Amino acid sequence: MTTPVNEVKHPLVQHKLSLMRDKDTPTPIFRQLIKEISQLLAYEITREMPMEQRDVETPLRVTSAPHIQGRKPALISILRAGNGLMDGVLDLIPTARVGFVGLYRDEETLQPVQYYFKVPSHLGERLTLVVDPMLATGNSAVAAIDLLKKAGATKIRFMCLLAAPEGIACMQAAHPDVEIVTASIDECLNDAGYIVPGLGDAGDRIYGTT
Ligand code: URA
Repeated sequence: MTTPVNEVKHPLVQHKLSLMRDKDTPTPIFRQLIKEISQLLAYEITREMPMEQRDVETPLRVTSAPHIQGRKPALISILRAGNGLMDGVLDLIPTARVGFVGLYRDEETLQPVQYYFKVPSHLGERLTLVVDPMLATGNSAVAAIDLLKKAGATKIRFMCLLAAPEGIACMQAAHPDVEIVTASIDECLNDAGYIVPGLGDAGDRIYGTT
């Protein structure tokens, strides 16, 4: 079983993404756009959340009304670029519980190594939304999800701005149960591991570093 990739074709998502790809888009605008696009992607990624009916007293009478069922979702940012997506998602789901996974790449083994891990309790009972703008090789996303599954997460979705086919294949091989929601599936990775055509280094563009 491989979960399909949801490439969100909504005109607002696509237009905002095109502005973000432009190398001349300045940092404050880039940051504003990633916030706006993350809200639209969050809308998609939460579409299938289970609902339950509960009574509500309107000014006129009591009625049975739909509410989201169960514990609050867990929103997990893969540091540091994930934080750029996190803020917008939190605007839309302010009650989400937030966690962080920090990974760096060991220059000898080229494997991701964990340097920070702090996540909400009861992960197994929460929809776990993992955010990182770029699904490039897929190595950090897979490593982060390995850690989250060890911590008890069972229902996991991954949100990114851009996904490379290589990253999607890596994720689907390791975690075929994890749905990927992305604004675009781009062409490929270049030799330096950047997504092409891409938007450059997402962290640098969000935080104005080089
Ligand atoms: N990380 C980025 O920030 N950009 C890419 O293109 C690939 C990985």
